[in-house]
Formats: sequence, C-alpha cells, structure tokens
Amino acid sequence: MDPTLLLLRWAHILAAIALMGGLVFTRFALVPAVFDLDATTRDRIHDAVRRRWLPWVIAAITVLLASGLANFLLFNGRVKAEGWADGQWMRQTSYHALFGAKFLLALVAFYFASALVGRGEGTQWVRNDRAKWSSVTLGLALAVVLLSGWMRQLHTGPNQIESGGVGMPSGTSRVDGEMGVDSGEGSDRSANRYRDGRAGSVFRDPAAGGSETAPATAPAQ
Ligand code: HEM
Repeated sequence: MDPTLLLLRWAHILAAIALMGGLVFTRFALVPAVFDLDATTRDRIHDAVRRRWLPWVIAAITVLLASGLANFLLFNGRVKAEGWADGQWMRQTSYHALFGAKFLLALVAFYFASALVGRGEGTQWVRNDRAKWSSVTLGLALAVVLLSGWMRQLHTGPNQIESGGVGMPSGTSRVDGEMGVDSGEGSDRSANRYRDGRAGSVFRDPAAGGSETAPATAPAQ
C-alpha cells in the first residue's frame, strides 16, 4: 500500500463529502427553514452562515483540485509505465474523455459553490435564488461523483472477466490502494490483466457482459 496515494484518496473523498454535505444542507434545510422569515432576518442569517462556511468551501475546492490533479497524474504515469493494454488502455476505456467531462463539470460546480457563499456583486444573481442555484450545483456535483465512480470502476475489481464477469478474480485477495488499482499479487493471471487489453472490457464487449461492440483489444486507430 502506498501511503501517499491513500492520503490523497482520503483527502479527496473527505473534501467531496464536505462540499456536497454543505450543499445538501443549504438546499434542503437552510433555505426552506428561513423561507418564511422577513427579508432582513433572512439576510442576516444567510450572511452569518455564509461567513462561517466560506473558508470550508475554499479549503474543500483547494483540496479537491490538488488531490484530484495529483491522482490523475500519478495514475497516468502508472498506466504508461506499466504499458497497460499495450499502451492503449486510456484510449480503449475513454478514461481521458471521462476525466475531461468530470473536470469541466467540477469547475462549474466550484463556481456556483463559491458564488453561493461569496459576497461580490458579480455573483449576487446566484444568491438571489439560492434554492435554484444550490439545486443546480448539487446536480453538477452528483454528475461528478457518478463520473468518478465510472472512472474508478474501469480499473478496479468489478470489471474482472476472469471470474465470470462480476466480482474480484479468483486468487486476488486485496486492493493495494495505488489509485485503487488491485495489484492482483495473488495470481500471475490477475497480475497481468491490465496488460492484455481486457481491463474495462465488461463495458464494451457483449461477451463479457457489456453493451458496446468494439473489442477491448482493438488496435489504435
Ligand atoms: C465536485 C468536485 C469533485 C467531487 C465531488 C469528486 C469526487 C470524487 C470521488 C467520489 C472519487 C472516487 C474516489 C475513490 O473511490 O477513491 C473521485 C476520484 C477522482 N477524482 Fe474527483 N471529485 C471532484 C473533483 C475533482 C477534480 C477537480 C479533479 C481533478 C483535478 C478530480 C480528479 C479525480 C481523479 C483523478 C479521481 C480518481 C478516478 C479513478 O479512480 O480513476 N476530482 N472524485
């Protein structure tokens, strides 16, 4: 187990929990709770909450960006260094496209999350309708989490076809924590599984339980 990667993962997940938890609280507890109050009281409460929550939002965004970029670079380096799927793994799994979509959605979510706790005039339109824009931000963050799970699934246990399509391959007893990559030290077959082009194939190859037709081992176009 690589402690640096584990720390990055913990940091990333905790920051995501903090950011999304704050959004859920804002949308489903705070905004409805102050809805009936007079405008002056409501603004005072929102301002008091905003000032206290702002540092947390800044910290969460900083940690998500730093740990996310570090994760991405380290994972790319590993896939390249180990030559997964003869150097075609990223292309075959569309990992970079998924990452690009996730990154863009995350940046838009960061903008709204900051605007909701900011005080600049340029972002006042966001705070004028907190219910609407906290819902939008929550939706974006949810999409980011779904994409993250998809990316992760591409290189972790449930993709294995050796064990019959679902679940961890036989002989593999642990996940080593390196970007969630199972080292498969329990068997030679699973140790080499990323190099034979079948990683993620359950999403592409109907024979492996997937829905698309391109073979996992297709040569580069
Ligand atoms: C709203 C912001 C974000 C949320 C809610 C979020 C959430 C998550 C979650 C839940 C995971 C899965 C963690 C795991 O199972 O180990 C993850 C993984 C990851 N995230 Fe984020 N993230 C966000 C922003 C970012 C950003 C800004 C980047 C890049 C700069 C990034 C890069 C990554 C990478 C590379 C992974 C690993 C994916 C894999 O396993 O292949 N994330 N993220």
